[in-house]
Amino acid sequence: MRPLILSLLFVTTTGSLDGTALPTLAADQETPKVERGEEIQNARCTTACHDRRPIDVQALDEAGWKKEVDSMIEKGAKVENDDVPILIAYLVRNHGPLPDGPGKDIVLTICTQCHDLQRVRRQRSSAEGWAEILDTMLNEGAPLSSEDFPVVLRYLARNFRPG
Ligand code: HEC
Repeated sequence: MRPLILSLLFVTTTGSLDGTALPTLAADQETPKVERGEEIQNARCTTACHDRRPIDVQALDEAGWKKEVDSMIEKGAKVENDDVPILIAYLVRNHGPLPDGPGKDIVLTICTQCHDLQRVRRQRSSAEGWAEILDTMLNEGAPLSSEDFPVVLRYLARNFRPG
């Protein structure tokens, strides 16, 4: 089951499975026409939510993800050679780099708790618009402190503005 690839990668490093107990990845035969990376993402929440956290809170470029994946494989993660570039491309597309600056870490840790970061990256708003969105997120229950609020607001308004 390919959707397990990502979970396996990270389960291995968190040590909750010892390397020898990894199940064999069976080839999926009747896969519907869904992007393979998306299949992997679909494993979220149904298999191992917590094991996805280390991915969600990172924003790396291709070299960064390649290093990460290589190190997982070194530690015993079973990823077929052909799957490695697909996995890396998927990670870069969905968990690619974010602009540096104050607020980045907060966005990575807080804004990934209920939805993925694509939700945030896709959005373009003025400062007023972002303030409204952040208010909505607070109403949804986002654990954003009053201290962090202006930092995140400045970060988003600067890096994700219209045009
Ligand atoms: C407690 C859960 C939760 C957290 C944490 C959270 N969100 Fe959301 N977010 C939601 C929900 C639920 C929606 C969907 C709301 C809807 O579709 O009406 C959403 C939707 C969004 C959208 C899309 C809004 C739109 O109009 O399409 C953006 C942008 C967004 N969130 C940004 C953020 C940012 C930035 C953070 C971090 C500060 C964050 N979210 C943290 C729950 C959360």
